[in-house]
Amino acid sequence: MGQRLHVQDLPVPIPDPTDCLVRVGSVGLCGSDAHIVSGHTETGHLPITIGHEIAGTVLTAPGGSELQPGDAVFVNPILGCEQCRACARGETNLCPRRRMMGIQVDGGLTQVLTAPARNLTRLPEGADLLAAPLIESAGTAHHALRVAAVSPADVVVVIGLGGLGMQVLRLALGRGARVVGLDLDPVSRQRALEAGATAAVDPTDPETRDALDSLDAGDGCDAVVDCVGFPSTTEAALDLLRPGGRCVVVGIGATAPRLPPPGVFVRRSLTLSAVYAYSAADIAAVVDAVADGTLELGPSVTRVVDLDSVNEAIADIEQRRGSPLRIMVDPWAGTPHSWSCSS
Ligand SMILES: NC(=O)c1ccc[n+]([C@@H]2O[C@H](COP(=O)([O-])OP(=O)(O)OC[C@H]3O[C@@H](n4cnc5c(N)ncnc54)[C@H](O)[C@@H]3O)[C@@H](O)[C@H]2O)c1
Ligand SMILES: [Zn+2]
Ligand SMILES: [Zn+2]
Repeated sequence: MGQRLHVQDLPVPIPDPTDCLVRVGSVGLCGSDAHIVSGHTETGHLPITIGHEIAGTVLTAPGGSELQPGDAVFVNPILGCEQCRACARGETNLCPRRRMMGIQVDGGLTQVLTAPARNLTRLPEGADLLAAPLIESAGTAHHALRVAAVSPADVVVVIGLGGLGMQVLRLALGRGARVVGLDLDPVSRQRALEAGATAAVDPTDPETRDALDSLDAGDGCDAVVDCVGFPSTTEAALDLLRPGGRCVVVGIGATAPRLPPPGVFVRRSLTLSAVYAYSAADIAAVVDAVADGTLELGPSVTRVVDLDSVNEAIADIEQRRGSPLRIMVDPWAGTPHSWSCSS
């Protein structure tokens, strides 16, 4: 795209028979949105409505749906083909014909949208609608911890304590694990300590090993979740694992890491995995964690802006001004934008 976003008045979309009409309550902006705006990520069509971290309120639901007008919902933005084996397993994130709202098809930065009823999850009573789009990034974090098989006895290292890393950290603490965070940015490290990390260390500092020693994990940690994905971070992750440890890569880097020779991998029984997005089961588990209070989403909201301030917010994300975790957009705040029904 490589150009600024514009607010446009559009007709209210007409839902397909299996769709809900949703009043958008809040949309989270992340680095992927910045990549679209700068032209680094290709979109399905232009102009496009971006925004893939979405929560709102049901306005209309198809007949026979369990959803009712007035229900507060999280909108899963991944549209699977619903015909392949991945979709049958509930893994629309692995569907070869998947499309993402806000990237391949129109997304959430609007006041009213349509989405398939099957993509909506009712939020628990009293859930904070403004923070609810964070269920999206928490879904990816949950996927990473599921693949890393993190249990209460584990010592987990999280590399990169940004939007995704902080969700990994909070969910790992919720599972009873002890967590050490690594980040170059002191603001991110401080945030991790406030959230309950045992230690938060600059990865260029040899203190990381001391932090593991103090947790009685001198032989290495049980799992590392690499939310940066640079060669240096994945290589450090493998180095920090105990024999039998698991490394899960979430960050999307452009360059391959130098991996240990197969003999070292085998003798140390290391696992190296990667995860993309989330399955329906990950979203359901995150919504349960929000409902039972294991996962708090509110602390990850840095600020809330209106539609007219989205360009400025995306520039802040791109330049990491103020180390933002998540900037949320309330499309009903600020200047009123009228939209008209097409009849
Ligand atoms: N796997 C997936 O499904 C998926 C989904 C969304 C985003 N991503 C990717 O995950 C990564 C993280 O996303 P995010 O939203 O958390 O980004 P973010 O910008 O919010 O956070 C990144 C954090 O990493 C820190 N960091 C940067 N370089 C570092 C280094 N060398 N060592 C330690 N810390 C370092 C930064 O200071 C920052 O705190 C990105 O690469 C993004 O593209 C993956
Ligand atoms: Zn995102
Ligand atoms: Zn499919």
